[in-house]
Amino acid sequence: MFQKDTSNALPITREIYWVGFFEESTHLQCNPYLLLDDREVVFFDPGSIPDFPQVMRKVIDLINPAEIRWIVASHQDPDVCGNLAVVEDVIDNPELQVAAHINTIRLIQHLGIQAAFYDVEAHGYALRLQSGRELQFLHMPYLHSPGAIVTYDAKTKSLFSGDLFGTISRNRDILSTEGFPESMNSFHQAYMPSNQILRYGMEQLERLEIQRILPQHGAVIEGDQVGVAIEHLKQLPCGVDLLE
Ligand SMILES: [Fe+2]
Ligand SMILES: [Fe+2]
Repeated sequence: MFQKDTSNALPITREIYWVGFFEESTHLQCNPYLLLDDREVVFFDPGSIPDFPQVMRKVIDLINPAEIRWIVASHQDPDVCGNLAVVEDVIDNPELQVAAHINTIRLIQHLGIQAAFYDVEAHGYALRLQSGRELQFLHMPYLHSPGAIVTYDAKTKSLFSGDLFGTISRNRDILSTEGFPESMNSFHQAYMPSNQILRYGMEQLERLEIQRILPQHGAVIEGDQVGVAIEHLKQLPCGVDLLE
């Protein structure tokens, strides 16, 4: 069977790269991504301290880390931004800013980060890059944290979705559709608070034209599967729905 080379950064599109790696001992694969814009690079959910050496090696193989001008933290979890203090040291760009929701910033400022924070709410949930490209943020409250956000890149119609659309699995192929959409069930049932809240989030996403979803766990969702994924999660009982 064809095996993708996951020992290096993996291109998802011409501008978007997966810089994660497959950890033998976990079923919760973490996916950091780079968006290479014309003049600057955006780094999504860089990850944890244990992941740092391998993730950063892939970043350095691909770009000069000082080109990273923005880090987007979808929420405050250690698998999302536990390594920010060491990542920013390697990036060594005095202009680096960390974009996040204020409910996330209040928590991750305790990580001892030197970079300035970019409060997405205070900036109209948008970030304009030097090229003119605009990234749009959507607040996904309580999915699964109060300040959870997703990022939409209209140019490539890509959604960097954080924990939403994630999977817990042994699947070691970021582009695999094996078991989809039920593959998303266990993670959302365990980590998302309720169907009511999950449905609210999905209804925000339905308004966007999305070609691919890039989750922080599991596999990339593309094409017709995007709609299937949103519909599936809209009806999925989770969290408190399952307590009885
Ligand atoms: Fe999380
Ligand atoms: Fe996560």
